[in-house]
Amino acid sequence: MDTVPEKKKVMLSGIKPTGDLTLGSYLGAVKNWVERAELYDNYYFMADLHALTTRNNPAELRRRTLEQLAQYVACGLAPEKNTLFIQSQVHQHAELGWVLNCYTMFGELSRMTQFKDKSAKNADNINGGLFTYPSLMAADILLYQPDYVPVGDDQKQHVELTRDVAQRFNNLYGETFKVPEPFIPKVGARVMDLLDPRSKMSKSDEIGNGRILLMEAPEDIMRKFKRAVTDSDTERCVRYDPENKPGVSNLMSIYAAVTGKSFDEIEAEFDGKGYGVFKPAVGEAVVETLRPIREEAARIMKDKAYLENLCREGAQRASYIAEKTLRKVYRKVGLVGRV
Ligand code: TYM
Repeated sequence: MDTVPEKKKVMLSGIKPTGDLTLGSYLGAVKNWVERAELYDNYYFMADLHALTTRNNPAELRRRTLEQLAQYVACGLAPEKNTLFIQSQVHQHAELGWVLNCYTMFGELSRMTQFKDKSAKNADNINGGLFTYPSLMAADILLYQPDYVPVGDDQKQHVELTRDVAQRFNNLYGETFKVPEPFIPKVGARVMDLLDPRSKMSKSDEIGNGRILLMEAPEDIMRKFKRAVTDSDTERCVRYDPENKPGVSNLMSIYAAVTGKSFDEIEAEFDGKGYGVFKPAVGEAVVETLRPIREEAARIMKDKAYLENLCREGAQRASYIAEKTLRKVYRKVGLVGRV
């Protein structure tokens, strides 16, 4: 007798299009999604509603959102097998976001590291959306009942808050949401800035010499790696020691993530060779990893009809699942619901 195939576990994640995707977004997020795509039922989206918490040029935000979709596909997420969608095209996110706002505590939101960091950096625009952002993120996640949420290190706290909100809701109203687990990669979970290796490589960094963009020209990537900060220790050898050698250790992590080599193998490979050989080698490995992604994403961006179709189909599939959860929630909290 045929065995009934086991239902695949569900993975979900998103990236906010506040800047062009960087090597950090790729190694910390998209690459890990792609590597596991076959094993799970996947939902990946552009978190454009989240992008509104900072000021954007509207045309640029639209361009980045669509380009991000093209990049997901170019990185290897086949749209036939993965549900890829734009958050604002699935109205259930904003709706559940409001409901969950009412089940997330002021104290919890005040403790979020990202809120503290972002409000310190943008003192002139500490808006309500920035503060309640984690409730919308909880809605993004819980609508799809995922088992795992693959994110970089910096988003772990938000996923933990999502778990708390889900458990609180379930305790009040009975089993409604699956309580998801964060899924943090072993290498690449925190790619640091090439010029300031104690801070995260960020897509919203304005100067940009310390970050690598997915769509960047090879010669620019090489130039940035050659200028990457190495450490001022006297040892000058390639050795993994994030505490004392943050610059070299960051380059080693990047090299490890793109080549699959271990830190021991990398130390042996560059033994006695010095930083002048090591830095361009990391640059070249990154250029070769990004080249096919850049070319394919550029090709997709030119095909407007294909992109539009991707958006439509992704949003329809996502909305079908999201609506089931939203209906359940509306009923449980006592809303009359849609007619
Ligand atoms: P965002 O857009 O800041 O980052 C997207 C993903 O990339 C990871 N990441 C990094 N990983 C390693 N090194 C880096 N330098 C680096 N920079 C970014 C982030 O950890 C993240 O996984 N709030 C989220 C977006 C979001 C979301 C969600 C994620 C909205 N709703 C629901 C998961 C589930 C954010 O701002 O990520």
